Amino acid sequence: MKAVILAGGTGSRLKPLTYWTNKHLLPIGNYPMICYGIAKLREAGIRDIVIVTNRSAIEGFVEVLGSGRDWGVSIIYRVQEEAGGIAQALELARPIIHPKEKFIVLLGDNLFEESLKSYAELFTKQEVGAMVLLKRVADPKRYGVPKLDEVSERIICIEEKPDNPASDFCVTGIYFYDTSVFQWIDEVKPSQRGELEITDVNNAYAKAGMLQYRVLQEWWTDAGTFESLEEAGKRLKFYY
Ligand code: DAU
Repeated sequence: MKAVILAGGTGSRLKPLTYWTNKHLLPIGNYPMICYGIAKLREAGIRDIVIVTNRSAIEGFVEVLGSGRDWGVSIIYRVQEEAGGIAQALELARPIIHPKEKFIVLLGDNLFEESLKSYAELFTKQEVGAMVLLKRVADPKRYGVPKLDEVSERIICIEEKPDNPASDFCVTGIYFYDTSVFQWIDEVKPSQRGELEITDVNNAYAKAGMLQYRVLQEWWTDAGTFESLEEAGKRLKFYY
């Protein structure tokens, strides 16, 4: 199974740190943030990784990771010319994923402890559709929040950063897709903020009854704010 790490975007919530570097190259403990995603994918048995990032950052990623050899993986880089949304970034992996191939997508600012191995194995057995990992959080308003059908372990719909969250779960940035994701991306229209939203893509799967979920049991954060960046630094300091 291949994986795509999305590491573009503007990192606007982390300015001024992100004036001079890409968010995913910021230090967490002893390593640049991107290294944790690479390590977790490798631990799950993934060897082929696509990294999508912006033009000005690509040199930094190549300096840190090179071909991926030192991490036991092989990396292909793709450039997202403008931060047009998570789904737009994902679309750039389309030429590299084979038709009918299932794959993992990781938002590069998602940091976590649990192994993805069992989830990847589970997804290979899933007949159709997609699967996302959820996490119970104290502040769901910051995230995509799912409405669940707990009997079938399917998501009914997801609301992005809702005022009145339907549950205390968030949809993490760990997604498992079949290649029909690219057809759904083709159909998605830019949101009010002008981005192709991954939540709209996931909602297309949900509407078709094809969005399964599982809940992460161990520590997880999205290191997109100063508080979560600091927490991740303490938590992951001696991890590798
Ligand atoms: O972390 C989980 C959350 O991530 C989900 O709960 C939300 O449903 C999902 O929309 C996303 O929300 P964020 O507000 O955290 O998204 P953000 O704009 O911070 O982007 C997340 C990652 O995606 C970040 O690591 C960079 C990458 N990205 C983002 C954009 C907008 C790109 O590669 N290209 C882009 O154009």
